[in-house]
Amino acid sequence: MANYVVLPAVSLLFLLVWLTGSKRRRLETPGPRRLPLVGNLFTGIVHEQMAAFANEFGSIFSVNLFGTDAIVVTSVSAARELFVKRSATYATRLPLKMVELCNFHQGLLFQPDANKLRQGRRLLLKGMARRELEQYQDIIQHHTLALLSRLLAEPDDFMNHIQTSMGDLSLEIGYGHRSTGKDDVLARRSKDWVTNFTSTIAFGGFLVNVFPILDRLPEWCPGAPHKKTANAWRKDADNFRRDAYEMVKRAVNTGDGQPSIISKTLTEFRHALDEDVIINSAAQMLTGGHTTVLTLQTFMLAMVLHPEAQEKAKEEIHRVVGSDRLPTFSDWDDLPYTTGIVREVLRWHPVIPLLPRNPIQDDLLNGHFVPKDTMVIVNYWAMLHDEVIFPDHAAFRPERWSELKIDRTNDPFEIAFGFGRRVCPGRAATKELLFTIIASIIATFKISKAKDAHGNEITPPEEFTSGGVIGPVPFKCHIEPRSRVSSQLIAESIQSARIRA
Ligand SMILES: *[C@@H]1O[C@H](CO)[C@@H](O)[C@H](O)[C@H]1NC(C)=O
Repeated sequence: MANYVVLPAVSLLFLLVWLTGSKRRRLETPGPRRLPLVGNLFTGIVHEQMAAFANEFGSIFSVNLFGTDAIVVTSVSAARELFVKRSATYATRLPLKMVELCNFHQGLLFQPDANKLRQGRRLLLKGMARRELEQYQDIIQHHTLALLSRLLAEPDDFMNHIQTSMGDLSLEIGYGHRSTGKDDVLARRSKDWVTNFTSTIAFGGFLVNVFPILDRLPEWCPGAPHKKTANAWRKDADNFRRDAYEMVKRAVNTGDGQPSIISKTLTEFRHALDEDVIINSAAQMLTGGHTTVLTLQTFMLAMVLHPEAQEKAKEEIHRVVGSDRLPTFSDWDDLPYTTGIVREVLRWHPVIPLLPRNPIQDDLLNGHFVPKDTMVIVNYWAMLHDEVIFPDHAAFRPERWSELKIDRTNDPFEIAFGFGRRVCPGRAATKELLFTIIASIIATFKISKAKDAHGNEITPPEEFTSGGVIGPVPFKCHIEPRSRVSSQLIAESIQSARIRA
């Protein structure tokens, strides 16, 4: 958006906020001092700044975001108290304004209706439970091998390969549709849906998220450019979700439904669910799958920056698994260093650093009144960077996981996927998938720094995007097969998978 649009809009906005906000009741919960109008300005990395205040104010404190008071929660124990013990009060998550305007709050992430939330969770939990995953073994293997062979063929394009392969995987598990490649229309629409959805959940991505009052401006007004976008996205996304669902429904009706979460739902418990829950939950699973993309891209960055960790994991895998097969999830218990890498990637730069909740009724926190609907920001990053639990927290150190007694207070699989009734239903599946892919990449490829035209190594910055879900900013690296044996292994695995399929 050009500055000449933003400036008048922002001035107009401050006036509106000032006029409407001055009478608003302030939270009593202690927190850092705020400036007039803007409140606590977060100019750097928001989740890091929001974590630092915990040193002074404890793990529950208040901040003010442009006139709106919010609570920040930075410890696992406080999060469990609120979202597990008081889950009836804190089970909701009010959609950001842009999410609501695009009608993106009907999936699980923001589902306001408790009954539909329960239905949707049931659907996805049933669909992605660990024993269900066995049905999808061939699909997971197919897309893992597709990723490996793309890395072999065009290593420089690894960021896109990860996105394509994982997007295709989600689409096939959700809808039973196998993408035919670059020209696959459903895969492209699915990718667009994921991109559009994730940009609406970035608090600062749209001015209307920060100042919902902007939505009262007419469409022609410079302060309301979001309206046109919202209208278009709502229509496109509604169409995509319905078309994808109808495709599976037709296939199931004619008896040639491929195994997928939707076909399973339609054949086994269609009558227990509202149709819109099926449509929206499956589409939400696609957006959830995007976190796997970002996590794997983060993993690649970690490997470039930490060759010593990569070597240790490679030695472990070659010693335990050997070099005549690829690692699978059944190797999890025998590869403690490699599982340490998986956990450390999730901890080092969690792809969802912050996510809000809202109490459905007034509550008391540490003796302070918190009114219904207050934004309660869960700071996952702070929990995974607690210096007491994770000394030298900013460092990527997979060995910390063999030094720690792993339990619910420190395991990223118990923290980064959320708490209580809103824990991610794809958690078990993601654990299996991340391990399988990460171990397979380490087993077959060496990832190192790219070189510039003069032969000098390029060290990529440890720099991440901003927004609701984050990943590394695009970077270069050098990817080559470990040996001729590794390329053969990939080729043979593809062969035998084809024969089996
Ligand atoms: C996503 O946004 C792009 C750009 O505005 C648009 O072309 C596309 O149709 C949208 N897709 C979906 C599925 O919402």
